Amino acid sequence: MSTLRVKAISSLHAEFSVPGDKSISHRAAILGGLSNGTCEISNFLPSEDCLNTLKAMRALGARFDVIEKLEGYGPTKLRIHGRSMKLAAPEAPIDCGNAGTGMRLLAGLLAGQDFTSELFGDASLSSRPMGRITVPLAEMGANFETLGEKPGCAPLKIHGSKLKPISYEMPVASAQVKSAVLLAGLFTEGTTSVIQPAVTRDHTERMFAAFRVSCRTQDNKISLPGGQMPESCDFSVPGDISSAAFWLVAAAALEGSRLLIKDVGLNPTRTAILKVLGRMGAHMTETVHSKNGEPIGNIEIHGAPLTGTTLLPEEIPNLIDEIPVIAVAAALAKGQTHIRNARELRVKETDRITTTVENLRKMGVDVEEFEDGMTIHGGSRLKAASIESHGDHRIAMAFSIAGLFAKGETVIHGTDCINTSYPGFAHHLEAIRSERRNPADFILPTTAP
Ligand code: S3P
Repeated sequence: MSTLRVKAISSLHAEFSVPGDKSISHRAAILGGLSNGTCEISNFLPSEDCLNTLKAMRALGARFDVIEKLEGYGPTKLRIHGRSMKLAAPEAPIDCGNAGTGMRLLAGLLAGQDFTSELFGDASLSSRPMGRITVPLAEMGANFETLGEKPGCAPLKIHGSKLKPISYEMPVASAQVKSAVLLAGLFTEGTTSVIQPAVTRDHTERMFAAFRVSCRTQDNKISLPGGQMPESCDFSVPGDISSAAFWLVAAAALEGSRLLIKDVGLNPTRTAILKVLGRMGAHMTETVHSKNGEPIGNIEIHGAPLTGTTLLPEEIPNLIDEIPVIAVAAALAKGQTHIRNARELRVKETDRITTTVENLRKMGVDVEEFEDGMTIHGGSRLKAASIESHGDHRIAMAFSIAGLFAKGETVIHGTDCINTSYPGFAHHLEAIRSERRNPADFILPTTAP
């Protein structure tokens, strides 16, 4: 099990870009593999989660060629050969690793096929709720067996069937559920609709548009006529704002710092963290330089003394993955930060309310835990501690950032999991920690195959 050791920094002046967006990379692999031709995908995220989805598509018949790769990880630029909606039966159960997005989206895709398939994952994924997708997909006519030790959990055996369109009102605000139902809807005759209780990330809808699949959003209802063929296209994945979030918090909380994150996704369903850091006192400017499909741009942030804030209920789905690192920002801010309406955190890669609260307390932070969130009483100097990631990439990274502000050396145990979403995090952390300023120090080693 690998560890990261982190000590406090006194300044942060850096310019760099973070690897490709995880949510968008999963979807690019899936839609590219369904499309009617060849798609070149650049800035693909070569993280374990996305590589598993890419391999899943290959197991379903969609071959890919590697054009460029990140040394030691996997392809960053690839050509995927679409199957014109006709997938092949996989020869073996498909491994989704740690990825909830991979498993749930693939389940939607596989529900309407004329073969049986099986999806499995690691211990964390095998304990996460799958009823949220099997219920609507069963309503469409799919036949699932949940084979996990925990009821309603993976492995999933999917007996593909002829599906009918439905109109589904989601009980939880989940982009994964929305996307699973819409992907299944592609294989129906008629219009499938999903009504979401709050706005969730809309990457699936935007990627449908890029592949010329018509899909309409009206208020909180998304409707997709079935039987459409995604038209192949080339796609460039923006940097992942959820990965940028770690450095944004570090810069926001350090007076005198300046950080420029380049070419990052600025989709409004993902940028709630910027609003929160702004309310806490950080000085920030966003410049959008590409508005086609997914907005992409730069974020420049300057550190300032932070004060606590209250996360708004409607912001929660749009910053759900950033909450562990927002909790770290809250610990560094004067006053109280209230994070509520975030019960969904309990069913992420770990129960992120428990793992965040436990590790904040180890660092001497006064924090109250609630069923749906936490209140953090911030502003005292953090103490270095021995942190457990519990195999959760975002916990490992959030507490690496906390370590940059703590007195003494913080040791984060179990950091291999970081590769599920941010290959090269340790390299960027080291460049920041050793107070390098040259953008070249942040470039991850890419080579042709
Ligand atoms: C994701 C949606 C979110 C998020 C996850 C990625 C996606 O989950 O937490 O990391 O790519 O659709 P929910 O939609 O279940 O909230």
